[in-house]
Amino acid sequence: MVGPNATKGSQLKKVLTTTDLVLLGLGAMVGTGIFVVTGLGAERAGPALALSFLLAAAACALAALCYSEFASMIPVAGSGYTYSYATLGEIAAWVVGWSLIAEYGLAAAAVSVGWSGYFQSLLGGLGIHLPTVLSAAPGASASGAQTLFNLPACIVMLVITTILSLGIRESKRFNNLLVLIKVAVVLMVVIVGIWYVKPENLTPFMPFGVSGIVSGAALAFFAFIGFDAVSSSAEEVSDPQRSLPVGLLGSLAICAALYASVALVSTGIVPFAQFVGVDDPIALVISRTGVNWLFYLVNIAAILGMLTVILVMTYGLTRLVFAMSRDGLLPPLLSKVNDRQIPVASTWGLGTLAALIAGVVPLGTLAELINMGTLMAFILMSVAVPVLRLRRPDLKRSFSMPMPFVLGPLSVVICLILAFSLAWMTWIAFIAWMAVGLLFYFAYSQRHARVENLE
Ligand code: ALA
Repeated sequence: MVGPNATKGSQLKKVLTTTDLVLLGLGAMVGTGIFVVTGLGAERAGPALALSFLLAAAACALAALCYSEFASMIPVAGSGYTYSYATLGEIAAWVVGWSLIAEYGLAAAAVSVGWSGYFQSLLGGLGIHLPTVLSAAPGASASGAQTLFNLPACIVMLVITTILSLGIRESKRFNNLLVLIKVAVVLMVVIVGIWYVKPENLTPFMPFGVSGIVSGAALAFFAFIGFDAVSSSAEEVSDPQRSLPVGLLGSLAICAALYASVALVSTGIVPFAQFVGVDDPIALVISRTGVNWLFYLVNIAAILGMLTVILVMTYGLTRLVFAMSRDGLLPPLLSKVNDRQIPVASTWGLGTLAALIAGVVPLGTLAELINMGTLMAFILMSVAVPVLRLRRPDLKRSFSMPMPFVLGPLSVVICLILAFSLAWMTWIAFIAWMAVGLLFYFAYSQRHARVENLE
C-alpha cells in the first residue's frame, strides 16, 4: 500500500520502548482534564462523575483499538489523518485532518486556560493578585466581577510557541520525569484525600441520573484527549506492532483508574454544587483537607504537567498541518522549514492564533468544541477499520481489533451519544468549522493535492 507523502523521505530513529509509550500517553493526557474539568464535570454528573470518566474511557479504548490496528499496518507519523488518507480517501482524510486541527489547536488553547487558573491560584497563595479584568475570558468571575482577557493563558501559549520555534527536541527523559511527578501527586491526592471523604457528600450518588453521567462523560472525555499522540510516534518505536497497542491501551487504563479515583475523592470531600465557577478544583479539594504541603504540590504539579500537554498539543498541531501541507492540501508555506528544520510559519501562525483564542474563550466552551472534533475523528476511524477489513482482507495486520464488525459500530454509537450530549452551540460551531473546511477543500486542496496513488 502506498500512503500519503508522509511515507516518503528520511527515516526516524527507532528509540521508543513500550514503557516510553505509556509515559508519553500519560504526558499528553494528564493535565487540564483532571486538574480543571473535574469541577465542570461534577456540576453535571454529581458524585457519579467517576462513572462519567469510565464511560469516556470506554469510548477512547474502542478508538484505541482502531488506532492500534492502523498503526500496526501503516506505522508512519500523521496518526488518524494518515490512516484515513490511506484507507478512506482524500475527502475523509481532509475531514479527519480538519477535525484534528480543531482538537490539537483548541486543546493547546484550552490547556493554557487551565494552566492560568492554577498559576493564578499559586500567585494568590503568595499574596499576588492580577487585575480581575485580565484574569479570565470575557464574562464574570466567581465573585461576580467583570473579566475581559485571560492574560496568563495568552502569555503561556506564546512562550510555548517561542520554545517550539527555537527547535526544542522533546526529550523523553524530561517528559518521563514530569509524568512521574504529575502521577505521583495525583496518587497522593487520592491517598491523602480518602481520609477526608464524607460519605454524606456521595449520596445521592447520581443526582442527575444517567443523562447526567453521559453529559459529564462528554466533558470528561477531554481528560483522555492526547492518547492518539502516542500513535503519531509510530516511526520512532522499535517494535510498533507490539508496543503501540500496549502503549495506547496501557496509558488509557492507568488514566481511567486515576481519574475515577480522583473524581470519587473530590466529590466525597467537596459537595459537588460547590465546584461552580471554580478554576482549580483539585486545589480547592486539598485546601478543604487542610494538608498545606499537598496544596502547594498540587499547584506545582498542575503547572508543570500542563506545560507538557500544551507543548505536545502544539507540536502535534504543527506536525499535522505540516503533513497536510506537504500533501498539497494546505498552502506550501505551512510546510516550509527553516535551516533548523522548524516549520516557522505554521508554528508562529498557529501559536499566535491559539494564544488569542486562549485569551478570549472560556474553558468550558473550548473543551466541548475539542471533544466534538475528536469524537468526529474517532467515528471515521471506527468506520474505517471494518470497511478496510471488507475491502482489503489480504493486508497484513500485526494487531487486529477483536470483533471489528461489533466493536467498530459500538464505538460509533458511543461516540455519537457523547457528541449529542454536547451543547447545541457546540454543534453549530463545529458545523460552521466543517463548512469552512469543506469550502477550503473544494476551492484549494482538491486542486493542489499531490497524492496520486493510495492503494
Ligand atoms: N487530556 C489533556 C488534558 O486534560 C488535553 O489536559
